[in-house]
Amino acid sequence: MKTRVLMVCLGNICRSPLAEGILKSKVNPTKVFVDSAGTGSWHIGSEPDKRSIATAKRYNLDITDQRGRQFSEQDFEDFDHIFVMDNSNFKDVMSMASSDEHRQKVHLILEEIFPSENVDVPDPYHGGEQGFENVYQMLDEACELIAEKLNNGTL
Ligand code: 4NP
Repeated sequence: MKTRVLMVCLGNICRSPLAEGILKSKVNPTKVFVDSAGTGSWHIGSEPDKRSIATAKRYNLDITDQRGRQFSEQDFEDFDHIFVMDNSNFKDVMSMASSDEHRQKVHLILEEIFPSENVDVPDPYHGGEQGFENVYQMLDEACELIAEKLNNGTL
């Protein structure tokens, strides 16, 4: 059975598609399934934001085949680990959980780098290119640690 990891942000066009692409590039696809979703519904069926696509491309990642989808309660059943990008996503996802088993699956992704510091991956949607590069760097570091744990069986 594959371990199933879900990356969640608000729109599923900027941050979580990058997180999905980055983690996929660091794990064995026969052992780990990675997907992403947004808590909002605006971008269902959309490609990732052009700036996320361009940022990924600079690091040789192709995320153009991803399409936006909305997070649903079923995801608590379908995934083993749910990584949210910020505290607002955390609140929204936790409000849909109906058991402790579900709640225990949800973690702020930057807890991997800064345990217990409640750090957000900032939403780059209304900013410039540099915001996307910044997001990429944070997610790359966090996904490196997540991939190590997946590979050595501690996650
Ligand atoms: P994301 O960024 O949550 O990183 O995908 C956003 C993209 C779109 C919107 C908000 C955040 N929006 O309001 O449309």
